Amino acid sequence: MSVHIIADTHAKLSVLRTMLEQRYVITSELLNGANIRRSDLASIVIAADLTVVENIAALKAISGKLARVAKRIFLIDGKERLCVVQAYALGATHVLTNPVSQQQLLAKLTDSDGPAISSRESTSSGREAASTGAASIAAMFSAVLSGSAIDVMSTKGAGSQIAESVSENGLSDWLTTVRRHHEGTYQHCLLVTGVAVDFGLSLGLAKVDVERLYSAAMFHDIGKARIPLAVLDKPGRLDDRERALIETHPAAGYDILKENSAISPEILDAVRHHHEYLDGSGYPDALGAESISDIVRVLTISDIFAALIEHRTYKPTMPRQKAYEILLGMPGKLERPLVHAFREVALNR
Ligand SMILES: [Fe+2]
Ligand SMILES: [Fe+2]
Repeated sequence: MSVHIIADTHAKLSVLRTMLEQRYVITSELLNGANIRRSDLASIVIAADLTVVENIAALKAISGKLARVAKRIFLIDGKERLCVVQAYALGATHVLTNPVSQQQLLAKLTDSDGPAISSRESTSSGREAASTGAASIAAMFSAVLSGSAIDVMSTKGAGSQIAESVSENGLSDWLTTVRRHHEGTYQHCLLVTGVAVDFGLSLGLAKVDVERLYSAAMFHDIGKARIPLAVLDKPGRLDDRERALIETHPAAGYDILKENSAISPEILDAVRHHHEYLDGSGYPDALGAESISDIVRVLTISDIFAALIEHRTYKPTMPRQKAYEILLGMPGKLERPLVHAFREVALNR
């Protein structure tokens, strides 16, 4: 197995080579002038200070070649959230912060945390759509954190690429690809988008409604950019204070997008209300059934299902059948006929 290393300093290159050369065939180059000549790479490790604009520019310049590598581990210098988000926006599939141990790095490469290094079982168009989607969700988070403008059109474009991939290759291929190659919030948003598209297609929704649905799914959790990572990525149960903090994300997302003229009222509504339940027990506005639109109902079911089947390092991945049973066990909260219609998507597609 071979690994390509790119770093912004000779010192980092040599440390990484030493860590990996006993297990892998290593090729390496400096970031400044990097060109990724090989086209058969399964894994790449990139060590760079992402507070340096030249490094970001150099990574953007090779983004096309980078996207063809299935596993892209970024090793960044600071723990600041903006750097982490920036790494994902530049195409990372995994992010580690320096100083990293040999064990941590090997764990990411050898797949002890789940996603396989081999990319054979997922389609390349699926992987490409997932990479574009993750990078565009990360770019939105980065824009929120840095106070810059959100690129709505490119996010919708990424959503449309996901819709194409799901309708061509099926939902199972999409779930495999995303769970194998993406982490955390990006994985979640990509899963929700794929599930929502497939649900919309199975319901026979008009093209324009499927477009609304994938756009809403891409944006739905943008308010999580305002939630501290320690809470957002906390393994296991949240305490009351943490849960209350998490529950601010739909209204935060609404506030982030409400002045944006490229965001339609339907998307805004879905961002704010995707955690509402028909019986009024949801948040943030405790809406009743009469105030919850069809798009939101479809998105909410897709969101819960996707959250249940996510791949997390600290828990086994829940089978689709079990996740569907949980949806069935939420009477009064979700629209019953819609949950029944979702069966085919959840189990078979
Ligand atoms: Fe949410
Ligand atoms: Fe969500």
